[in-house]
Amino acid sequence: MKKTVRDIDVKEKRVLVRCDFNVPQKDGVITDDIRITSAIPTIDYLVKNRAKVILMSHLGRPEGTADMKYTLKPVADRLGELLGREILFVSAPEVVSEDVRRAAELLEPGEIMLLENVRFRKEETKNDPAFSKELASLGEIFVSDAFGTAHRAHSSTAGIADYLPAVSGFLIEKELKFLGNAVENPARPFVAIMGGAKVADKIPVIENLLGKVDTLIIGGGMAYTFLKSQGCEIGGSILDSENIGLAGEFIKKANNMGVKLMLPTDIVCASDFADDAKVGVFPASGIPAELQGLDIGPETIKAYSDEIKKAKTVIWNGPMGVFEMKSYEEGTKKVAEALAESDAVTVIGGGD
Ligand code: 3PG
Repeated sequence: MKKTVRDIDVKEKRVLVRCDFNVPQKDGVITDDIRITSAIPTIDYLVKNRAKVILMSHLGRPEGTADMKYTLKPVADRLGELLGREILFVSAPEVVSEDVRRAAELLEPGEIMLLENVRFRKEETKNDPAFSKELASLGEIFVSDAFGTAHRAHSSTAGIADYLPAVSGFLIEKELKFLGNAVENPARPFVAIMGGAKVADKIPVIENLLGKVDTLIIGGGMAYTFLKSQGCEIGGSILDSENIGLAGEFIKKANNMGVKLMLPTDIVCASDFADDAKVGVFPASGIPAELQGLDIGPETIKAYSDEIKKAKTVIWNGPMGVFEMKSYEEGTKKVAEALAESDAVTVIGGGD
């Protein structure tokens, strides 16, 4: 059992909380603050329990430079609005400066401070122990609550736990509970939907899921590598040529294990990677050489939706097509609608 903030005494302690405040912005305005609101239960708990709260996060990929386009100031402002209280924000290009140290030392119980973007320091993404130590020196307890960044071993997410007692926050706890239960103890039928472009990225996930799911649905860019492994003509569609063999093995393995593996049977094709280049729907077994597949077709949408409707647990990772373009958004949208209409426990993950 992982320890959470509930398991330790935080009263009057300086508690460093790693959040994922990597929020989308347009012209300096936050367009979706769900990552900020998701951090509030942990922050609230710490404030109520009289901790001195020091929040940290990355924003974007400034690649080790203090590029103010990526400052966390807008996040401090939005969090302050949401909580109806002041968030102390000391912007320092080096993240941990003398001013920041002083501010951290002067924090009163129940007060909240946010550090500048930890990726202003190049050491962050290298998980440099010296930077972890520097961050750790600001606090007495480390709380890991950046679920969206939990897969990155960086100074502020992983290395820091070597220098401070470390526990999870409520967001990590909640996500582990849902994802853990869904995967380890699923109500059946259990359907996993995998999409997105790269087969290589998903290999360990597919391997793991094959032993647990009843149905594995494949869509998106990675489907073409699976189709190719079955001898289909995929035209100019995206292909992970190094992993064609592995895709074929997964199909065989699924068959042997009695897992129903579903591949697209029809594909929306285009002459170019462009919204206005849509040509039409073709059978997945024969995409013309001069075309590329950019979305699953209507027959596939129906088959996938029917399968999802029968499910009691669904895990979904990765889009079914190039949903950023109107002409190829249908597959992803319809799969999302099928999930929304189902009574299953549904878990959706991924950067998009
Ligand atoms: C995300 O948005 O996926 C996380 O915040 C991680 O960001 P990263 O991909 O830049 O590490």
